[in-house]
Amino acid sequence: MNLAMIVAYDQQRAIGHNGELPWARSLPADLANFKKLTTNSSVIMGRKTFESIGSRPLPNRENIVISSTPTGVKGTLTALNIPSALSLARYPVYFIGGSMIYAEALQYVETIYATEVNHSFDGADVFFPEIGREWQEVSREHHPADDSNAYDFDFVKYCKTTQK
Ligand SMILES: NC(=O)c1ccc[n+]([C@@H]2O[C@H](COP(=O)([O-])OP(=O)(O)OC[C@H]3O[C@@H](n4cnc5c(N)ncnc54)[C@H](OP(=O)(O)O)[C@@H]3O)[C@@H](O)[C@H]2O)c1
Repeated sequence: MNLAMIVAYDQQRAIGHNGELPWARSLPADLANFKKLTTNSSVIMGRKTFESIGSRPLPNRENIVISSTPTGVKGTLTALNIPSALSLARYPVYFIGGSMIYAEALQYVETIYATEVNHSFDGADVFFPEIGREWQEVSREHHPADDSNAYDFDFVKYCKTTQK
């Protein structure tokens, strides 16, 4: 099965602030890229990330929420841990956060799709872990800030190599 992770982080690897994205709604190009990559896939997320997207399933994706308590929300599946979530998934998998899920899922995935935001946000409270030397950057696409996107950012793809 195809296993990948998708994340956006700033120059300090910050991914969240008070249950939201640090850049709030000021990077629509990142949201569009997220939608394009994950549509028709299984997305696996932690319970707090599910709450951060409004406790509603993302449309056109199989939504699997990892939690000790079932969400009870139609259109979602709940799993107690990552192995159970993977056993439920029927489509290519994207782990979509948050920090707890990223840290645990790194061992399972072969690809990371990262949006690297060229800014440092104050007050962030959740972070993406440092990745090891087994991860190699395979592509990078730079996007300057524009009228819609408040910050410069890069779309970067990392793949896991066999070298440790
Ligand atoms: N920038 C990005 O790309 C990005 C992406 C996603 C999220 N975020 C941000 O990240 C923040 C949320 O992340 P977070 O790290 O605080 O929380 P999280 O990883 O989304 O969710 C944590 C919860 O998931 C469940 N969980 C995680 N690991 C588990 C395990 N091994 N076994 C059982 N349950 C497990 C637990 O739920 P229960 O307590 O219900 O048992 C835990 O409290 C928000 O600010 C959000 O905006 C950013």
